Amino acid sequence: DSYDMAEMGYADWGGGPVGEHASMEGMAGMHTTPVSELTADPDRTADVRATFTVRREDDGGYTVNGTSPGPLLEATLGDLVEVTLVNDNVEEGTTLHWHGVDVPNAEDGVAGVTQDAVMPGEEFVYRFVADQAGTFWYHSHQVSHEQVRQGLLGPLVVRPEQTDQGVVDEVAVIHQYDEGPTVNGESGVVASHAQVGQEVRLRVVNTDNGVNPVWVTGAPYRVLAVDGTDVNQPDEVTGDAYAVPAGGRVDLGFTVPRDGVRVDLGGSAAMTFAGDPTGGTQAIAPDSYVDLLSYGEPADLDFDPTQPDRDFEYTIGKKPGFLDGMPGLWWTVNGHLYPDVPMFMVSEGDVVTFAITNDSDDAHPMHLHGHHAVVLSRDGEPATGSPWWTDSLEVGVGETYEIAFVADNPGLWMDHCHNLPHAQNGLVAHLMYD
Ligand code: C2O
Ligand code: CU
Repeated sequence: DSYDMAEMGYADWGGGPVGEHASMEGMAGMHTTPVSELTADPDRTADVRATFTVRREDDGGYTVNGTSPGPLLEATLGDLVEVTLVNDNVEEGTTLHWHGVDVPNAEDGVAGVTQDAVMPGEEFVYRFVADQAGTFWYHSHQVSHEQVRQGLLGPLVVRPEQTDQGVVDEVAVIHQYDEGPTVNGESGVVASHAQVGQEVRLRVVNTDNGVNPVWVTGAPYRVLAVDGTDVNQPDEVTGDAYAVPAGGRVDLGFTVPRDGVRVDLGGSAAMTFAGDPTGGTQAIAPDSYVDLLSYGEPADLDFDPTQPDRDFEYTIGKKPGFLDGMPGLWWTVNGHLYPDVPMFMVSEGDVVTFAITNDSDDAHPMHLHGHHAVVLSRDGEPATGSPWWTDSLEVGVGETYEIAFVADNPGLWMDHCHNLPHAQNGLVAHLMYD
């Protein structure tokens, strides 16, 4: 019962058993490129090797090697990463998806699409080359609206070969557990070891289902990177918050002044750097936000999005119908209820554009697997700042975003809302290479 296929009706619809392996065989009419063609060179020795044992704990939460968030997985650009997933006792099975890393399709960890869910006592080895430096995360992609929310996730950082030795590099994983909002699994205000005068790169990962605003008190900051991609010539920001979409990441840069810096993360959790300039009181977010549409300086793209080979519309709505046999009001893509959403078909090398329109009464953080897309416009207003590369794009009520990417990663890819209950309720489509 992967949320994508079985749980959403695919196994019922395609003939596989719901609740067990959502197998490829269960997906009538679909195919993927064989694993052997897509995994990293089997003869190459891994540079980073880890075993991640996943457990469901007595309190219902999920852990990776005994903790949630799971361990920080760190690699250097170009490393071959090999992670062995061991399912200790997760009855409905589990997988690992490398959110934001454009891995080969067979390594994408989507149960029912790129692999079977890994059942208790089973293992699965993921191998991929970390060919983009940036901030990413991993999480289950099986019954993910439950497993992710209950903690089956962790951070993944790929650093460039040359790192700036003086910079304090920290990760802040925001997650709301049943007990409340946390940063790196701790509630309240967490102190960093950074010292006065040091430069900080804070890698914020939003693992929740909704936007988390983050804001910096005590120093100006820069948005160094978004969704694992550096911003070109980021402007200095003072007083504005940054809205991190569900699934999205932002790297914030600042220098710690004498009175310290406080970074509020989602409004309840915070991190302090050499003191708390608010005296421990700040809780209210500024009401203005950095707008990436005009942030930073333009730079050339390595492709021309003005003459796309494919030009798709992805319009999100809602209508009554049946999903997995259940009557209800379900999300639709171009008027179709899942799983009867036609696939977006591309050929390798195509320049692809999507106009994503939100014709519903709720915001949708849209996540495209296997690719990063650049934002061209919002509501007809062209992007004028740094190329805004994203894999997790918040599309607000009534908004239309035009995005573009090169179809350079063959396979069958999900394109879904990362408010995971929305995905469970049908906000899913697929991109497929012919
Ligand atoms: Cu982070 Cu399809 O998910
Ligand atoms: Cu949604």
